[in-house]
Amino acid sequence: MTTQQTATSDAQAGSGAETLTIVDNRTGQSYELPITDETIRATDLRQIKVKESDFGLMTYDPAFMNTASCRSAVTYLDGDNGVLRYRGYPIEQLADKSSFLEVAYLLVHGELPAQAELDSWVHDITHHTFVHENVRTFMQGFRYDAHPMGMLESSVGMLSTLYPESKDLTDADNRMNQIVRLIAKMPTLGAFAYRHITGKPFVYPNNELSYSENFLSMLFTTGVPKYTPDPRLVKALDVLFILHADHEQNCSTSAVRSVGSSQVDPYSAVTAGIAALYGPLHGGANEAVLQMLRRIKTVENIPDFIEGVKSGKERLMGFGHRVYKNFDPRATIIKKACDDVFEVTGVNPLLAIAVELEKIALQDEYFVKRKLYPNVDFYSGLIYEALGMPADMFTVLFAIGRTPGWVAQWNEMLQDKEQKISRPRQVYVGADERDYVDIASR
Ligand code: CMC
Repeated sequence: MTTQQTATSDAQAGSGAETLTIVDNRTGQSYELPITDETIRATDLRQIKVKESDFGLMTYDPAFMNTASCRSAVTYLDGDNGVLRYRGYPIEQLADKSSFLEVAYLLVHGELPAQAELDSWVHDITHHTFVHENVRTFMQGFRYDAHPMGMLESSVGMLSTLYPESKDLTDADNRMNQIVRLIAKMPTLGAFAYRHITGKPFVYPNNELSYSENFLSMLFTTGVPKYTPDPRLVKALDVLFILHADHEQNCSTSAVRSVGSSQVDPYSAVTAGIAALYGPLHGGANEAVLQMLRRIKTVENIPDFIEGVKSGKERLMGFGHRVYKNFDPRATIIKKACDDVFEVTGVNPLLAIAVELEKIALQDEYFVKRKLYPNVDFYSGLIYEALGMPADMFTVLFAIGRTPGWVAQWNEMLQDKEQKISRPRQVYVGADERDYVDIASR
């Protein structure tokens, strides 16, 4: 800190003013910027110039490490203390007491529904689970070994062609119709993708079943008139969906907001979210965790694996988080859900490796120093596998769970008067102007 900055902060100390004084040492000029909600407006910095023709000061924040891109009332996250709340309700209480569709209503509408509101919401979602028959033929066009996330991504994009009225973003009822459709159709599309890659006929939705039960039925019904999954598995799946339902401005939600800010239809915006979630550093991590556990193979191999991580050869997948620096509350709930599922399915042999890996990592200086803890993906893959899902379906489950969050944030963004088309600035570091050189002379 320079002497001048120290003097300024001393002078301001205790004044109680909700402002920030900046002294530009290039010019000696001082600027007072308002502080609101612990933030300053990046555009307020633009007045800081050396000469009038300057563009003005910008902030440089690759990967948005310290930039709030919106005001949101959907999800509260305190990474240092492991707190996650949807619309003010702690995730622990919602996972324990609520259902996924009730949580979806909460995220989208902002309040928990009264019974009649919930009934009507569940009815609407249930009666929009069917997809146009063209989706069926579209799905059949994929190769036998297509990744289901690629299929989900494309088929959600395809929905925009089926609902051209979704382009009208000005009508709140119209937006809500698309929100219902998206939440309703995601499990159908995910299940169709699964049936395609496993060479099985598509199973149509069954309106008598709950959301999660219906999804399991569309995945696993084979040659029986009525498929009845164990209610403990249905509950576990519902809890997993709740845990994934929103996570404020993560990579995929930012993608939905950013793409949606161009005023494109919500199917196209959610397709962007699915694409972002597909990546191994985001939703793809649960699949990567299972691959990692399989590669480690035995508890005895863990120390060698940890050494590989510490020497930078690879990452311990399912560990670490941009925001959680203490623990991920979702991981704690999932670990408990593991026990309920394994009671029905028998213990996944990879669990022993996961538990030991977690134990060793949590005691190791490398992970402690960097505040790396298990995240939501560390145990979720084990549950999905126990439910009978192949690893490449894991991220599809994440996407189904995250859909209410994406659409709630998209709807919020559209109603936010401060929002405009997303368009970050850059610091140009390329070549100065130079003349074109004819190819023969290069
Ligand atoms: N294994 C080993 N080292 C790690 C890991 C890991 N999983 N995560 C972070 N580090 C190290 C990293 O190498 C760096 O060390 P150093 O300071 O010596 O260079 C330090 O910790 C900080 O890491 P970072 O990459 O700067 O942190 P980030 O905030 O950019 O990344 C993350 C967050 C989630 C992408 C990262 O922790 C990671 O790659 N984890 C594994 C993938 C994973 O589990 N992703 C799921 C996230 S939770 C679900 C979701 O919301 O998508």
